[in-house]
Amino acid sequence: MRFINLYFLILYSLLIYEKCKATVELRAIALTYSEKEKNFLPITNQFNEYAKENNIDIRIDVQLYSPTNSSLNVNDYGTEIEVLMKKKSEKYDLIFYDTMYSPRYAPYFLDLSKHMPKEHIDMYKNTIANKTCTYQGKWVGLPLSVGYEILYSNFSLLEKYGKKIPETWDELLETAKYIKEMEEKEGNNNVLYYNGLFPLYETAICSFQEFIHSYRETIESPYPDYSSPEALNALNKLKEIMNEISSGETFKSNDPITLGAIYSGNALFLKYWYIGTVHSSFKRSIIPGRNKGVSASTVGGTNIGINGYISEEKKKAALEALEYMTSLEGQRKYMHESTEFSALTELYDDEIVCKKYDCNILKKIQLIPRPSSVAKNYDEYSTQIRNYLYDFLYNGADASKTLEAMNDIVKIYNISIYPSESKEGFTILLVTIGAIVLILLSSVFFFIKKFKSHFSFFSIDSWVIFFLSFIVIISSIFTEYGEVTENKCQIRMILNTFGCSFLYIPILYKLITTFPEKNRFFNWIENSKFSFYLIFTLIDIFLCGLTFISTHNIIDINVKEGKKYRLCEANSFGTVLLSLIFAEKIIIGILIAFMLFLEWNIIKINREIKLITCTFYVNILSGIVLIIMKYMDLNNYKAHFLIYTIINLVYVLSCYFFMYGVRIFDVIIKKKEPKLKFIKQAGTVNSTLTERSKNSSTINYDTNSKFGSMTLKVLQYHYFTGEETKTTDDFSVPSMSFTNGESLK
Ligand SMILES: *[C@@H]1O[C@H](CO)[C@@H](O)[C@H](O)[C@H]1NC(C)=O
Ligand SMILES: *[C@@H]1O[C@H](CO)[C@@H](O)[C@H](O)[C@H]1NC(C)=O
Ligand SMILES: *[C@@H]1O[C@H](CO)[C@@H](O)[C@H](O)[C@H]1NC(C)=O
Ligand SMILES: *[C@@H]1O[C@H](CO)[C@@H](O)[C@H](O)[C@H]1NC(C)=O
Repeated sequence: MRFINLYFLILYSLLIYEKCKATVELRAIALTYSEKEKNFLPITNQFNEYAKENNIDIRIDVQLYSPTNSSLNVNDYGTEIEVLMKKKSEKYDLIFYDTMYSPRYAPYFLDLSKHMPKEHIDMYKNTIANKTCTYQGKWVGLPLSVGYEILYSNFSLLEKYGKKIPETWDELLETAKYIKEMEEKEGNNNVLYYNGLFPLYETAICSFQEFIHSYRETIESPYPDYSSPEALNALNKLKEIMNEISSGETFKSNDPITLGAIYSGNALFLKYWYIGTVHSSFKRSIIPGRNKGVSASTVGGTNIGINGYISEEKKKAALEALEYMTSLEGQRKYMHESTEFSALTELYDDEIVCKKYDCNILKKIQLIPRPSSVAKNYDEYSTQIRNYLYDFLYNGADASKTLEAMNDIVKIYNISIYPSESKEGFTILLVTIGAIVLILLSSVFFFIKKFKSHFSFFSIDSWVIFFLSFIVIISSIFTEYGEVTENKCQIRMILNTFGCSFLYIPILYKLITTFPEKNRFFNWIENSKFSFYLIFTLIDIFLCGLTFISTHNIIDINVKEGKKYRLCEANSFGTVLLSLIFAEKIIIGILIAFMLFLEWNIIKINREIKLITCTFYVNILSGIVLIIMKYMDLNNYKAHFLIYTIINLVYVLSCYFFMYGVRIFDVIIKKKEPKLKFIKQAGTVNSTLTERSKNSSTINYDTNSKFGSMTLKVLQYHYFTGEETKTTDDFSVPSMSFTNGESLK
C-alpha cells in the first residue's frame, strides 16, 4: 500500500515537472528584401539565451526568407504575410516585418498597447516608433531596429583640395564639380562622385523622399507637398546633380555596388544606410539639405508584431518574448552585439554604443517615415511613384508633370470655391449667387402696380412657394463643393425633392381649380388647398426622413493616370428610396400633363397653359439629360461638376423665366394684357357638352365602348374653349379629330 502511494507520488511529480518543462515554441517569420536585413537574427538567439538563463520556457524559432530562396519580388513583398493573415493562419506567432508595413498589417496583428504594460509602450511613444509602428492609434508592432541613411565623404580626397564635408546640396555639387574637374585634369576618370542611390526597387523611394524632405525650409517644416515649389526645386536639383557629377547608370546601381564602393571603392560622396565598418578614408555626416542644418533620412528597419489569431498561451509567450526583445536592456545588449540601431534614443548616450558609432551624427539625424499610410496598398503606391520617378530621372520626363502625376496617385480632387484653386468652381459660385440675387430682387415686381395683374393667375402664396422652389433647387449646387460626404449627398437629394414639389404642387392645384367642370373631388381640392399641399409635403417629409438611414456610399472614381475624385452612389436602400421619390414626381408630372391636355384650348387661360407647358418641357428635358449623364463615363471631376451645376442652373433659370420672367417682359415690351378675369363656368361646359352630344349623330363617334367614351370625354375637354361658340367654324376642327379618334379605334 505504501509502495503504491509512493509510486503514484513520484509519477505525479514527474508529470507536473514535465508539464512545467514543456517549452512554448514560438515560430517567427522574417521576410527580407535585402541580405543586409538578416542582421536582426542575433536578437532571437539573444532571447533564447536569456530565456534559458532565467528559466523561461519559451523558445523562438525563426524562418527566414530572403530574395534568394523565396519567389517574392519587392512588389509583393508584403503580400505573403497578408495572405496568411487573411486566412487567420496560426502558422507564425511573431512576425518580423519592414517598418513600412504597419498600416497594412494593422488589422491582423495584436494591438500591443492593449496587451503590454503601459510603461513599456510609453518608452517608445517619444521615438520614431510613434509613426512607424502605429496605425490609426493602434500599436501594430514595436521596433526591433531602425536604419538611418547618411552621407559618406572621402576625406582624403576632400583634404587634397582643401574642401569641407558639404552641408547643403549646392555645396556637394560645387565641391564634386571642382574635384571632378581637377581629377580629370590629372587623368583620373574612375572616381564615383555621387551615387544617388536610386536603384530599380524600393530603396529609390527612400532616396526620393529624403531628397524632397531635405528641401523643406527649416528643420521644423513639414514634408513639402508635391505641388509645392520646394518639391519642384528638389527634383530639378536632383537632376542637376545626376547630370553634372553622376549619371543615370550610377544612380541606378543596386546595393551591392554601393556597398562595394563603401568598402573599397574609388568614390567621393556616397549616400547609404549607416553601417559600422567602412573604408578608412570615409567620414560620415548627415545628408545635406537645401539650407544648412536641414537634413532628412528615411527610417528603415524592422518591427516585430504578434499574430492576432494565435492561442492565448502563445500570445502570452509571444508578448513576453517581445517585451524582452524591445526592453531597454534587451536593446542595449542587441546594440552592443549587432550592427543595428535601436529606436530608443537614450541608448545613444551609452558609452559602448558611442564607441562603436558616431553618436553625434545619430542624434542629428532627421527622420522621415515612409509614406506607408498614404495608400491602402503601399507596395502598389510605391511602384507607381517609382515609375514616375524613373521616367523623370532616366527618361527625361518633365519635373512638374512628374510631381503632378505623383500627387494624383492618392489625391482626391474636389471643387473649391476659391478662384486660386478652381476657376470653374469660383465661376459657378458667382453665377449661382448672381442667380439667387436676381430671383430674389426680381420679386419687387409684385409690388409694382403695372405688373400686378400679370401675376394674378397664381395666388400670392403659390408665388412664394415657387420662389422657394427656385432657391431650394439652385442651392443644391453648394453641396457640389468640397469633400464629397454622405451628408452632402443626402442634403442634395432632400433639396431637389422638396424643390421639385414646391414647383409642381401649386401648378397641379391651380390646374385642378381652373378645370371647367366640377365634381366632388375637385371641389374638395379647391376648398382644401392647405390639405392638398400638406399631403404631398408629408409624402416628401416621409421619404426624405428615410434618408437618415444610410442611402449613399462614397465611391472613388479612379482615373488611370488622371485626377481621382469621389462621387455619391445610392446604395440599395437609397436606390429604392430614389425610385419612390422619382415615381412620386412622375405621377405628379403625369397629372399635370393630363390637366394641361384637358385645358389646352381654354381661351381665357391659354397663355398660362402654354407657359406651364414650357416649364413642363424644361422639367422633362432636364430629367432626360440627367438620366443620360448618369450613364456617361465622364472620368473628369471638373466636367462632372460643370455638367451637373449647369444643368441645375439652366433648369432653374428656365423654369423661372417661363413662370415669372416672361410676364415681366410682357409688360416691358407692352404686349396686350391678357384677359385674366376668371368666371366660374361650371354651367357653360355642361351646356356645351350637352349641345355637342345632341349633335352626336352628325359627328358620328362610338360611345358604346368604355374606352371610346372616355377618349371622347377627354377630347371634348381638350377642345373646350371655355366660351360659348356658335359659329360652325369652331366645330370644324373638333369634328375632324373625332373622326380621327374613331379611325384609331
Ligand atoms: C533562405 O536562405 C537563407 C540564406 O540566404 C537561409 O538562412 C534560410 O534558412 C533560408 N530559408 C529557408 C526557409 O530555406
Ligand atoms: C504619438 O502619437 C499619438 C497619436 O498617434 C499622439 O497623440 C502623441 O502625441 C504622439 N506622441 C508623441 C510624443 O509625439
Ligand atoms: C578616397 O580618395 C582617394 C584619393 O583619390 C582614393 O584613393 C580612395 O580610393 C578613395 N576611397 C574610397 C573609399 O573611395
Ligand atoms: C479639396 O481639394 C483641395 C485641393 O484642391 C484640398 O486642399 C482640400 O483638402 C480638399 N478638401 C477636402 C475636404 O477633401
